[in-house]
This record gives sequence, structure tokens and C-alpha cells, in this order.
Amino acid sequence: MNGVYRTSSPEETGDLGRRLGEALLPLPGCTVVALTGGLGAGKTAFTGGLARGLGIAGRILSPTFAIVNEYEGKKRLCHFDVYRLKDPEELFGIGWFDYLEDGVVCAVEWSENVAALLPEDRVRVDIARGETDGERVITISGVPEREKEERAK
Ligand SMILES: Nc1ncnc2c1ncn2[C@@H]1O[C@H](COP(=O)(O)OP(=O)(O)OP(=O)(O)O)[C@@H](O)[C@H]1O
Ligand SMILES: [Mg+2]
Repeated sequence: MNGVYRTSSPEETGDLGRRLGEALLPLPGCTVVALTGGLGAGKTAFTGGLARGLGIAGRILSPTFAIVNEYEGKKRLCHFDVYRLKDPEELFGIGWFDYLEDGVVCAVEWSENVAALLPEDRVRVDIARGETDGERVITISGVPEREKEERAK
């Protein structure tokens, strides 16, 4: 799942998010997905697909005003948008550590704002604009490679 992907529509970006969600399903523990990319990059579009991959039905809404929205699926998704935090430490004020339970995926939009506070073993999703309006270059890293372990068995 780790790699560099190119998408040419919000739907394709969502589809990539869905594939990541499906790849996270069998992982134990809690997974933090840190999204970066700037205004209108497609972080919410990607997270909408991630939710589908986690078996969450229906649309997700950007949590910009709520800071965090929660959805129940095969795994719970806690969708953060920390754009409005004035101080990174405010993340702890909203109860960050309480969300990091087993079986939970915490997706964080604008994760660059709180990068120093996030676990080192997070999954990173960076979305950059491509040459044309609809293009995005999406770099996914930090997904534990289970396949290798399984092959070794
Ligand atoms: N390939 C693409 N992938 C994702 N979004 C795209 C793509 N091409 C165009 N878009 C447009 O870019 C916008 C992405 O919006 P989205 O809300 O997902 O961004 P965001 O990164 O969450 O922004 P914000 O910083 O406001 O949270 C949408 O208007 C979408 O239609
Ligand atoms: Mg957004």
C-alpha cells in the first residue's frame, strides 16, 4: 500500500482512501493516519474513502468546526481536523489520548500543525497538486507491511 499514486478526480482519491482503509482493517491496535497537503488538497475526499474502506456507511462531514467526528464501522474512525488549533497542545485539551484505543483509526487533517505530538509509527498521507487542476500526487508511507510477515510463516 505504501507508494506514490496519481489521481485525476475526487472519486479516484476516495477510492485510494478506501483501499488504505481496507488495508488497515486486519491491523491490531490503533492506527493514526496523518494527512498533509494544504487547503483543498483532497484530505476530506481521501478520508471519505477511508471511511468506506473501514465499513462505514454514509457520508462523512469535514470536522473543521467540531475538530473531531466519530463514526462506527468494522473499525471506529475518529476524524480530526486540527486546522483551527491555535496551539498544538490544544490537541491534548480535546482528549487526544482518549481516542487512541485498540480497533480505532484516527485520521488527522492538517497533521503538520501537530506533527511533533503524533506517534512516530503513524501512517502518512501527503497530497500534492499535480500539473493540472484535477490531478493529485498522493504519497502513502508508514503502512506496516503484513504481507512480508505472512510470507515468512
Ligand atoms: N484528484 C482529486 N482528488 C481530490 N480532490 C480533488 C481532485 N481534483 C479536484 N479535487 C477537488 O479538490 C477539492 C478537495 O476538497 P477536500 O475538502 O477534500 O480538500 P481538503 O484537503 O480536505 O481541504 P481543507 O484544507 O479545506 O480541509 C474538492 O473541491 C475536489 O472536487
Ligand atoms: Mg478537509
